[in-house]
Amino acid sequence: MIDPFGRRISYLRVSVTDRCDLRCVYCMAEDMTFLPKREVLTLEELDRLCGAFIDLGVEKIRLTGGEPLVRRGVIGLIRNLGGRIGGGGLKELTITTNGTQLPKMADDLYTAGVRRINVSLDTLDPAVFKAVTRWGEIGQTLDGIFAAKAAGLAVKINAVALKGVNEGEYDRMLAWCGEHGFDLTLIETMPLGEITGDRMDQYLPLSVVRDRLRAHWTLQETDYRTGGPARYYTVKETGRRIGFITPMTHNFCESCNRVRLTCTGTLYMCLGQEDAADLRQVLRDPAAGEEGLHEAIRAAMLRKPKGHDFVIDRRQARPAVARHMSVTGG
Ligand code: GTP
Ligand code: 5AD
Ligand code: SF4
Repeated sequence: MIDPFGRRISYLRVSVTDRCDLRCVYCMAEDMTFLPKREVLTLEELDRLCGAFIDLGVEKIRLTGGEPLVRRGVIGLIRNLGGRIGGGGLKELTITTNGTQLPKMADDLYTAGVRRINVSLDTLDPAVFKAVTRWGEIGQTLDGIFAAKAAGLAVKINAVALKGVNEGEYDRMLAWCGEHGFDLTLIETMPLGEITGDRMDQYLPLSVVRDRLRAHWTLQETDYRTGGPARYYTVKETGRRIGFITPMTHNFCESCNRVRLTCTGTLYMCLGQEDAADLRQVLRDPAAGEEGLHEAIRAAMLRKPKGHDFVIDRRQARPAVARHMSVTGG
């Protein structure tokens, strides 16, 4: 699948639920109204949709949420998709999770074919963790991370850079990741959902962070890529990698290879734009069949915009898009 700007679309991010057991401040409002169950695609429908994308050339699928692992029965979907790795056309099946369910699910994920996961962990401080997630217990996420490691999964830690919140912790987090064999990715906070004054003030450009890290660490450029937006450096002292995701200071849209499917079957062609295609209607239309579904997906690719236009400007305190990050899972 090629979009109008000549970009090949080979990466599908699937938000399997809008629900989450946490409420990270940059991702959700405190009192979220979640979708009624009837709006949400069944796991069988999600499987069929993912299958159609794989048939059309998608090679990497990442399950997100909300929190993907809180959806009941999700392991069945993961097993089915895992069965398509290799000869079935899929090269990688992976997950972005908050880690709380990993103590009970890590082994099953490995058995299903998952080899690499990203776990959101913005801080190593229990009190800060509680403040960012609104009520989370850091111990649960740490247990999950170590369960994943023990199960043989490669773990990458995702931390959103927040000024005045976790700003002083990146050295410590880099050392901790090195000690345990994890890569670390720092992410610039993006203006989705409700933007309060607080959130504007928390924005921290990663160019600043990278320069500060260089005081203590040797960051060596590498061309290692995952198919995601991060630019990686090898940390000489630890041998692990650090990635920087910088949509606010460096737009990487020209090499975008992904689209996002929500749990209601809405396909967003860009994280930072409102335009979306309704695939649920086609999926549930018996007259459309498999060919109709393929046709709808191909037509949606032709609507993929050039990129987002995120801005951080206090005078213009409005989100780039009104939906919360949890709708598309990042
Ligand atoms: P890897 O496969 O490990 O590279 O994962 P990833 O970085 O693609 O996915 P992950 O779910 O860990 O997302 C990390 C951050 O990257 C989240 O904040 C996402 O919102 C952000 N991200 C992923 N793709 C895009 C994109 O196309 N545009 C923007 N602006 N941000 C993105
Ligand atoms: N800006 C940047 N990253 C975000 N994430 C959630 N909300 C935001 C935001 N507003 C991150 C999560 C998770 C990944 C999917 O997206 O921390 O690691
Ligand atoms: Fe839940 Fe992840 Fe959003 Fe935090 S960032 S509220 S853990 S979906």
